[in-house]
Amino acid sequence: MREWLDDALFYEIYPQSFCDSDGDGIGDLRGIEEKLDYVKGLGCNAIWLNPCFDSPFLDAGYDIRDYCRIAPRYGTNEDMKHLIGEIHRRGMHLLLDLVPGHTSDECAWFRESAKGTRNDYTDRYIWTNKVWDSFDGVGSIMGCIRGGTQRNGACAANFFNSQPALNYGFENPDPDKTWQQRPDAPGPMATREAIRNVMRFWLDMGCDGFRVDMAGSLVKNDPDQAGTIALWQDFREFLEKEYPEAVMVSEWGQPDRSLLAGFHMDFLLHFGPSHYLDLFRTEHPYFSREGKGDLRTFFDLYLKSRAQSLSGGGLICIPSGNHDMIRMARTLGPEEMKLAFAFLLSMPGVPFIYYGDEIGMHYVEDLLSVEGGYERTGSRSPMAFDKTRNAGFSDADPDRLYIAQDASIREINVESEDGNPQSLLQTVRALIRIRAAHPAFRNRGGFRLLQCGDHSYPLVYERTEVNADGTDKAGGEQIFVVLNPSGQEAEVTAAIPGNAETIWSYGSPLRRTADRIFVPAASAAYIAQTTSSTVTA
Ligand code: NOJ
Repeated sequence: MREWLDDALFYEIYPQSFCDSDGDGIGDLRGIEEKLDYVKGLGCNAIWLNPCFDSPFLDAGYDIRDYCRIAPRYGTNEDMKHLIGEIHRRGMHLLLDLVPGHTSDECAWFRESAKGTRNDYTDRYIWTNKVWDSFDGVGSIMGCIRGGTQRNGACAANFFNSQPALNYGFENPDPDKTWQQRPDAPGPMATREAIRNVMRFWLDMGCDGFRVDMAGSLVKNDPDQAGTIALWQDFREFLEKEYPEAVMVSEWGQPDRSLLAGFHMDFLLHFGPSHYLDLFRTEHPYFSREGKGDLRTFFDLYLKSRAQSLSGGGLICIPSGNHDMIRMARTLGPEEMKLAFAFLLSMPGVPFIYYGDEIGMHYVEDLLSVEGGYERTGSRSPMAFDKTRNAGFSDADPDRLYIAQDASIREINVESEDGNPQSLLQTVRALIRIRAAHPAFRNRGGFRLLQCGDHSYPLVYERTEVNADGTDKAGGEQIFVVLNPSGQEAEVTAAIPGNAETIWSYGSPLRRTADRIFVPAASAAYIAQTTSSTVTA
């Protein structure tokens, strides 16, 4: 069951920005279908598709008006069915985006809930008893909708003010605030069932599961997230019973909690405690040539989460970026990104590549906000495929594009990078091929950190082929990954067996003695050996 996760490699597609098949300046499902061979050719075998449901688009589709209808600008439910068929025909998988925390204020559920008379939706959202009551001090409520409703109450907003919070109850309800219901009260239980129905709808159509938006924030006044963890365990039980093949990846950023909650995978994110930003995006990213990065705290937390997740089989996902982060190409140049990908594609867990990162697409500076993107807008600009109009994204007049493209697309596009053997795209493809060919690189393979001191280079780790119980396989493959993104030669005490062979390298070759490795500036190598031997750090 769910064995495909052992080798899954995801590509995140932002539907409005990937490929426009009908020339209206915005991407659509048929456009995605036209580009499936590109995604497969890259080596990705799974897709996470951001929300593509009916919406007023005040938060780019994370404000859903109708959970079970594809937004007309992207196509129809029939188009989605067709897309799923084409994805599966290629042996690939598809996760849709589930947004369980809030809807749009234009959702029919909210319209009913806002009525002054009691009905089936009265408790679907979090409402106070009086329009003047405040949500001050209530954890993970970001604002409120006050006024404009027949109902005498204020409704909690989960993100922007047009996104009323669905009601999953309060873990520690304030006894003086009778509107704070327990998670097992009838209203919150009905919300769970409504979201289960949404999941049933798309799983019945054939999707393989969901990326879950703001997964850690559903139960309110829940400081240790115990209520939210219990809620997701309940959702997981539902999946086990009705859809045992379905998978979920959480936008949570704390694998120690989310994997315990029943998620199969969790992302490390730009928020939360994981120190993910230290890799590619701080002021001094580890993968910058300047060589001032530090991954100690990142690895301390990563190893702890990994140890906790191993027994449950959960997977930690490191994304190259996503639609909420500033693109990697803003902090790293294309050569630096090659080493960033050499890391991303040799780590355990499930790698996620954000569309366009494989070619080093730029963050577009100084754009006005589009559909609630604000500073995220520059990371959401349309994909660059070729040298034709709008870089092959759309036939529309360039002024009509949903988000403007950057001038750099004339050089940075799939066609140009295809023609250049030294390009980032060619490197990413090669790294993916190597990952797929080596059992030690499987998503659930072994991992040992051999060298990562404070502010030190190189980074050295070992990947191993494992048995089903996670122990190293006798005589199985071992791969040593040595990465020196800095501009200085670095050396380290580590023993790599003499007969191990380099299966991939970048930059000048490293030198090894019995117990030391000398790693030239800006270089990397994967060194494999198929019979087991002892290694000391
Ligand atoms: C996280 C999503 O990734 C982001 O794009 C969205 O704005 C918020 N959640 C609210 O749904």
